[in-house]
Amino acid sequence: MAIERTLSILKPDALEKGAIGKIISRFESNGLKPVAIRLQHLSQREAEGFYAVHKDRPFFKDLVSFMISGPVVLMCLEGENAMQANRDLMGATDPKKAAAGTIRADFARSIDANTVHGSDSVENAKNEIAYFFRATELFAYDYKK
Ligand code: CMP
Repeated sequence: MAIERTLSILKPDALEKGAIGKIISRFESNGLKPVAIRLQHLSQREAEGFYAVHKDRPFFKDLVSFMISGPVVLMCLEGENAMQANRDLMGATDPKKAAAGTIRADFARSIDANTVHGSDSVENAKNEIAYFFRATELFAYDYKK
């Protein structure tokens, strides 16, 4: 299986709960290595741009206001099958439907405050990573060592 990259965002509720360490630890213990990490308070423009695909959905305004309500942690995760592996760890978008033991089942309180975002395809992952990180900010592990 190929080494892949995906974008993960720890949303404002994750920071408010003091849960970022626990969440990153789940990624690390499941083969997902952070290759870039930044704590950032997104502007409205940055959040709207990131979620532009959802701009006509009824939840767009609430989603953007939640995402700018506090700082987030932006991360590029790398590992085998990283996009799907991250989605499996996160669980369903709606925490009420998320399987037991997933991040959203354990930490999230609502569909907007759902603790984590993860890219939903390898193609989107490339665009989402590039939205927040320059190529020079991504650490290149040497897997031959
Ligand atoms: P995320 O993975 O960040 O991608 C889009 C976000 O929109 C999603 O998580 C949810 O937090 C939020 N959202 C709110 N309502 C819905 C909905 N009905 N369907 C999908 N996403 C929703």
